Amino acid sequence: MTVTEAIRARRSVHSYDPSRPVSDEQLRELIELSTLAPSSFNLNHWRFIVVRSEQGKRALHEASLNQRHILSASAVLIVLGKIDAHEDVGRFVDDWIGKGYYPDDSHLGKVSSEFYGLNPTVQRDEAIRSTSIMIGMMMLAAKERGIDTAAIIGFRPPEIVEAFDIPDNYMPVMLLTVGHELKPPPERVIRLGYDEIVHVERFDRGRG
Ligand SMILES: Cc1cc2nc3c(=O)[nH]c(=O)nc-3n(C[C@H](O)[C@H](O)[C@H](O)COP(=O)(O)O)c2cc1C
Repeated sequence: MTVTEAIRARRSVHSYDPSRPVSDEQLRELIELSTLAPSSFNLNHWRFIVVRSEQGKRALHEASLNQRHILSASAVLIVLGKIDAHEDVGRFVDDWIGKGYYPDDSHLGKVSSEFYGLNPTVQRDEAIRSTSIMIGMMMLAAKERGIDTAAIIGFRPPEIVEAFDIPDNYMPVMLLTVGHELKPPPERVIRLGYDEIVHVERFDRGRG
């Protein structure tokens, strides 16, 4: 399956076949592959909690407005974003410099002061943005392997934080259910067409 084919074939699955599990090895491969995704300043903001137990899935189900596909999924990934990932910048900058990307560590100061600095909004945005790009890649890698997924943001974060003992410097960005669909989902829901979403050179407010 090509990337194009995976993009066309991927759908959000809301009902999984419990008789077709996704193995730990398959999950590991998916995580290792999708974390080749780019991230802001290469800070690798992502962390994962793999939930397979009935008890864990029930806790997620309750915190997520009783979305039933959480219970039928083979596994649910709680995808976390590290809010203070900029604190780790030294390690990544050393790697860049060691590999000849940059001649010195001038980026280090920029990350910690000018860009992320003391700005909690940027820190949070970046934890979400970089992690979300990775999740999109994971959905496609899964589809290529015949594995189905669905992203979930309809949850109450404090309940997940408490139930899974998540430290303050991490946020649950998204849940990703993983499994094999029970039956094909209905026809794809609408997408806005090219002419509705593309503006040329500047925003055309007449089409706003
Ligand atoms: C960030 C994000 C969060 C989502 N959260 C939920 C959710 O909480 N519950 C749900 O049923 N679907 C959720 N979805 C799935 C969307 O409803 C779905 O992607 C959309 O309807 C398009 O359908 P498709 O993915 O099958 O193309 C989410 C999708 C994204 C990208």
